[in-house]
Amino acid sequence: MKRGGSEAAKRQAGESAATVVEDGAVVGLGTGSTTAHAIRALGEAVESGLDVQGIPTSYQSRELAREVGVPLTTLDDASPDVAIDGADQAANGDLVKGGGAAHAREKLVADAADRLVIVVDDSKLADALSVPVPVEVLPDARTPVAARISELGGEPDLRAAERKDGPVVTDNGNLVLDCDFGTIDDPVGLATTLSAIPGVVEHGLFVGMADELHVGSADDVTVQR
Ligand code: 5RP
Repeated sequence: MKRGGSEAAKRQAGESAATVVEDGAVVGLGTGSTTAHAIRALGEAVESGLDVQGIPTSYQSRELAREVGVPLTTLDDASPDVAIDGADQAANGDLVKGGGAAHAREKLVADAADRLVIVVDDSKLADALSVPVPVEVLPDARTPVAARISELGGEPDLRAAERKDGPVVTDNGNLVLDCDFGTIDDPVGLATTLSAIPGVVEHGLFVGMADELHVGSADDVTVQR
């Protein structure tokens, strides 16, 4: 899946979001190349004495946090004050996520957090959501869920692994259908419908969840609330 704009713009957004984290905070650590800049910035802040604990949303973010020295905890032991995460598209504060197939844990952590801070480069902004919606499904549910998606007017496509034959398998052992619905006029309705399909573990529509967006460009960042 295409991963957005320039590295400089991602860095602007990620490093800006890291500055909202206060001493003593528990931070949800999202997944992806933009959030990785925030995690690295948090690692540097920890080195300088900031006291934070991170709750990772994927093996990827867990490994990076360990590498840069961000102490980790879990949702069993702590509740995030803030979660920092990326998005594949943002429109009117609503998001499509799941380009890294981590949206199930990302939504869990985001929902538990007091504040959800989204980091995107400016290529991710749109007037309406229109990119395919990742839908994580139980392996046995792949064909029936794909049929239901088609009935809804969507085009489901089983996500294939880039470096080996076979499908992408999520950290939870499931599969991902990337479902193209064209322009999504009713994100709330679609989110509700997708959640109700048996076999769907989680979908990548994050409707009304973001508290603020840090939008990076090559040499600047703007914060939208
Ligand atoms: C992972 C996600 C990512 O946050 C999203 O795909 C954005 O990634 P990137 O910052 O690399 O463009 O939802 O499941």
